[in-house]
Order: sequence, then structure tokens, then C-alpha cells
Amino acid sequence: MLIKLSNLTVKFTQGRFNKRIIYALNNVNLTVERGETVAIIGESGAGKTTLARVLVALEKPTQGEYLYKGKNVWRDRSTRKLIRREVQYIYQDPISALNPSKTIGESLSYPIKKHLKLKGDKLREKIEELLRAVGLDPSLAERYPSQLSGGQLQRVNIARAISINPKVVIADEPVTMLDASYRVGVIDLLANLKKKFDITLILITHDLAIAKYLNYKIEGVRGVVIYGGRIVEEGRINDIISAPLHPYTKYLVNSYIDINSDGKSKIEIREELSTTNVFSPNGCPFSNKCPYVMDKCTKTFPNFSVDRDRKVACYLYGE
Ligand SMILES: Nc1ncnc2c1ncn2[C@@H]1O[C@H](COP(=O)(O)OP(=O)(O)OP(=O)(O)O)[C@@H](O)[C@H]1O
Ligand code: SF4
Ligand SMILES: [Mg+2]
Repeated sequence: MLIKLSNLTVKFTQGRFNKRIIYALNNVNLTVERGETVAIIGESGAGKTTLARVLVALEKPTQGEYLYKGKNVWRDRSTRKLIRREVQYIYQDPISALNPSKTIGESLSYPIKKHLKLKGDKLREKIEELLRAVGLDPSLAERYPSQLSGGQLQRVNIARAISINPKVVIADEPVTMLDASYRVGVIDLLANLKKKFDITLILITHDLAIAKYLNYKIEGVRGVVIYGGRIVEEGRINDIISAPLHPYTKYLVNSYIDINSDGKSKIEIREELSTTNVFSPNGCPFSNKCPYVMDKCTKTFPNFSVDRDRKVACYLYGE
């Protein structure tokens, strides 16, 4: 097993005077096998970026364990060092991820010099090869970030992520800030690189259409639906979209398939109580919107019901 998160919680304190505790992640259990493609799906504030930051060891969990290749990341400094090299993170915003005063070539050369110890002609060749691999002209190495389009910049970020032969790439909403015309190309590129270099790919998105498209490019993508810092459902993307189980997933699928829906997963959420994170951290995070809410939902988060490769945490399916 490559990645294993056990009962992992990340708490933040917000507000200077009226302090409140935010559970960005709450008791999360997640495993990722080598070579897998996982789509983490959830709305804004669900905890997706926090999860990505935990996985690249930028965020220390408040509670729980992160094992990478079987080693406890926060007890073993050498594993954190290994993660810096083997687990690469592609940020949502392609512009702020690059230093505006450095050329593309300079930005790309930093991790290669540091980790692969290349210099001179070898370094230049590597940068040209990387730019070609992500579908860019090598002459772009001389340019500054402000001289590239958003789509080109995201390709540069992808080139940087793959430059030191990572085992895992985590792409955090990599196409959200791009024009629609660039989106498909960037997902295609990620899918092709994943296959070519046998990378374990974790794609974070709020958009089911992106997860579905990725699944069309790479079969068997596992979907993990996250809401209010909790994983609420897991399964193959196609199963999640064609037959969502958790009421939140139904709501998500509903909004996505509204145009071509057969109405089977229709669900009306209780909009009047729609602020996230105002529930008890022990209860179900969807309880303040869920039309099926029961007394116990607000008190205790349900256990996962597991049916083959499908998991759901909701009292409608078990205790
Ligand atoms: N450093 C921080 N300090 C305080 N609160 C934080 C911090 N980072 C995240 N949070 C809070 O934790 C929750 C989860 O944030 P996170 O950025 O992980 O969500 P997200 O799913 O990535 O959202 P988005 O889709 O908007 O990027 C949010 O309520 C956010 O406000
Ligand atoms: S556990 Fe309860 S509140 Fe949560 S989704 Fe299921 S029925 Fe709704
Ligand atoms: Mg985010």
C-alpha cells in the first residue's frame, strides 16, 4: 500500500475574537494503491486542498496517522524527505504557482538541479524534453510566466511536477481556472503522462464532469466524495454517477445531470440551513441540509456500509 491515512483530523481555529474550530478533515481513512487513479470530489470548503497538503506533508495532522510506503510520515523525517521528491503537487492557480521574475526554464531547472543533480547541457536538454512532453515548444523556456496563457502555464506546472520522476502526482483542481477550451487538453495530458510514466494520480475536483472525463481517458478511476471534512462515499466513478448512494452525492449528481436527468436521483436539499460546518463535528456533516435527517445523524457520524468496492457513510444504508 502506497498511502494510508488513518483516523486523520486537521483542525483550524478561525476568527480573532469569536474563535471557532473548523474541522477541515475529520477522522478520514483513505488508502491509495500504487498505480491507482483517484478522483477526490467535493464542493468548496469540503477539505480537498487540506487533504492534498496532508498528502504532500505540508500540513501536519492534528490527530491520526499518515503512512507513506508503510512509514509514519510525521515520526520519520526521511519519509517526509522522500515525499518531497516522490509526491508532487499541481496547484489550482497556474499563475501564482510560478515565480513571475524567473523564466520558465529557470523555474523548471530548480527541482531538477536539486533532486537529479543535472547541470549545463544535460539540464537544458532535460528542460526541452519536458516542455515537449507536455506539448509546449522548448523556446518557451526563455519566456516569463506573464508571457504565457493559462493553459500553457498549467502545462509548465505539470512539466515541473513530472520533472523529477515522481511516483504520485496530486492535481488540485488543475483546470478550474482555465478557459473551457484548455480544460480537456490538460486532463488529456495528465492521463497520458499517468499512463506513460505509471504515476499514481490523485485528481481533486468539484466538477463531476471532469472526474467522468478522466475516467473516460483512464478506466477504473476510483471516486472519493468528501463533504464537510468527511469522506462520505467511495466507489468507481461510473457507479457513483449512475447510482449515487449518499444524499450529498445524489445532490451533486443531480446538479450535474440536470440537463439529461431521468430524475432517479432527484433530491431537494434544505437550503434554509445551508452554511457548512455549523454541525457538531461528531455528527454527519450533511445533516443540516439532508432531507432524510434523523436524530442520530446530528449526534454520531455513521459507520461505512461496504458492498464490494462501494462504500457509503449514511444511516440510510446501515448503522
Ligand atoms: N490555514 C487555514 N486556517 C484556517 N482555516 C482553514 C485553513 N485552511 C483551510 N481552512 C478551512 O478549512 C476548510 C477546508 O478548506 P480547504 O481549502 O481544504 O477546502 P477545499 O475543498 O479545497 O475548497 P476549495 O474548493 O474552495 O478550494 C474551509 O472551511 C477552510 O476555510
Ligand atoms: S447520515 Fe443522516 S443526515 Fe447524513 S446523509 Fe445520511 S440520512 Fe442524511
Ligand atoms: Mg481547494
